[in-house]
Amino acid sequence: MCGIVGYIGSKKIGNRLIEGLKRLEYRGYDSSGLAILDQTMLKSVKRIGRVNCLEEALPEKILEANVGICHTRWATHGAVTEENAHPHVSSDEKFALVHNGVIENYLSIKKFLESEGYKFVSETDSESIVNLIAYHYKKQDTNNKSNRFLESVRKSLLHVEGTFGIAVLSQDHPGQLVCAKRGSPLIIGVGKNEHLIASDVNALTHCTHQVVYLNDNEIVHLNADDFSISTIGNSSVNAVIQTVDWDTTAAKIGDYHHFMEKEIFEQPIALTNGMRGRFSNDSSTALFGGLNISEDELSQIDRIIFLSCGTGWHACLIAEYLIERYARIPVEVEYASEFRYRNAPLDKNSLIVAISQSGETIDTLSALKEAKRKGYKTLSINNSVGSSIARECDGGIYQHAGPEIGVASTKAFTSQLMLCGMLALYLGRMRNLSYSDGCKIVEAFKSLPKLIQETLSVKDQIKLIAKEYADYEDCLFLGRQLMFPIALEGALKLKEISYIHAEGYPAAEMKHGPIALISESCPSVFLTTSGEMFAKTLANIKEVKARKGKVICIASEDCEIPEDSIDSLIKVPIAHEIISPIVMSIPVQLLSYYIAIERKCDVDKPRNLAKSVTVE
Ligand code: G6P
Repeated sequence: MCGIVGYIGSKKIGNRLIEGLKRLEYRGYDSSGLAILDQTMLKSVKRIGRVNCLEEALPEKILEANVGICHTRWATHGAVTEENAHPHVSSDEKFALVHNGVIENYLSIKKFLESEGYKFVSETDSESIVNLIAYHYKKQDTNNKSNRFLESVRKSLLHVEGTFGIAVLSQDHPGQLVCAKRGSPLIIGVGKNEHLIASDVNALTHCTHQVVYLNDNEIVHLNADDFSISTIGNSSVNAVIQTVDWDTTAAKIGDYHHFMEKEIFEQPIALTNGMRGRFSNDSSTALFGGLNISEDELSQIDRIIFLSCGTGWHACLIAEYLIERYARIPVEVEYASEFRYRNAPLDKNSLIVAISQSGETIDTLSALKEAKRKGYKTLSINNSVGSSIARECDGGIYQHAGPEIGVASTKAFTSQLMLCGMLALYLGRMRNLSYSDGCKIVEAFKSLPKLIQETLSVKDQIKLIAKEYADYEDCLFLGRQLMFPIALEGALKLKEISYIHAEGYPAAEMKHGPIALISESCPSVFLTTSGEMFAKTLANIKEVKARKGKVICIASEDCEIPEDSIDSLIKVPIAHEIISPIVMSIPVQLLSYYIAIERKCDVDKPRNLAKSVTVE
């Protein structure tokens, strides 16, 4: 994971680097560090903790430099210590490097370099690259001074296995920065007399909106006025400069206490933005402009495989229920990390759909590449324009939910649920779904933002419930059919941000194991609407009560639930089944949010997690 930012230009690195680094904290936040070139001296400062700990430790002199690289870390190799924090400096003190990714053959590189006299001070895989660069630099022709830096990075990367986004400073080349990427994202920011490099476009937009997305195995040589791209194998590459029209103000917290709170409460807007312009004129189906697959091709599809990780995987499960029900196309849902290595036999007419809020999750990206390699059409539903996954797919649907900063996904999740439902409608209308059913569904989607606004009013009731349940250490989430993936998501949200052990199950599955956990100290959260599963869910609720388990029931307004069957009841508005998982997600999000607050947890940056998972 990790985030990197680099700067070279006529201005002081000061806010340029630190502001960029703060915007990358979602990628990891256990330690951070910065290196600059002062005259011809490399200087670095590292700190354990958040970027503000680093900021406080930085002497004014360092912030006045015109070239620097910095890093925020999510530990993979080695504990959270200052030695393991980046930048890493080569043992001859000539190079400093920041790295995002994982070097798989670092042990053999390290062993070789140690035999050559190089000293290692950290437990990281990254230190092997910086020392390898120093080794190749030393071996090169000393007359070719300017290219010597670039060529030693290039030579080193030829020996490196694994993934990397790197930025390197050289003491002998104060006006230069060399960067490269494979598997981890890296973007150049092109400014006036300045260049930046970062692992996310958001870390650049405070300086420039002109960017170049690097491709795998590309290496960039930058100075203040110019840059050139080549491949690691040394073929030249033409840079394509793009303009990003990010609204960075959307990422400001405003009057909210946490980004997660903001993102929960702005769901009506996020959903409105995601459906804007996406219904047909006769309001009977959905429209998607960026699929890049003809209706003819789509009508041939006889199987869809959804790939994702984390919360997005739960959205895939909803897609499975809805697409199978409304479009009658068989759907399979795969963890991207498993699919990638499983070599599943696929039919010719299979379509692959990846769901990812960040668009950078390495497992999802790699699984997509694998599917593409085998010749399948790939689509993505994703919230990050220009992200690696968006660029890798044949086409896709952007969520337009706006930046999500809280690590635990909320608005990005409900927007994925909505788009999965709209995709089910679209595919259904291309097959057997009738005009009038299509119209009813479109009407349901159009009513969604208002319904969500109404649902959010349960917040005060949930705050009280949260007080009551904040001290429990275990919790079950149970639901059937469309409520099952929301039960999984409820359990995930609670464990992510409040560190309470929670599990989600189909309610009927409870009898096959989880029921052993039921006791006065393990409450259950049941999710139900009044549909065909209601009576069966009620029977499951009774089974829990019979074993002295406390029950919080989240139910649609038309459910009649005997008072003695439950301990707390949260009622949500009645909704068409296609949008009911979205409505039901709201109380589940609020419950985990308010419980986490009661437990005084760091809601937006929960321990050990990161927003964008770019390591396998
Ligand atoms: C991390 C995030 C989750 C997210 C998952 C998959 O674990 O904390 O919120 O669901 O990655 O990320 P993606 O960006 O691919 O949806």
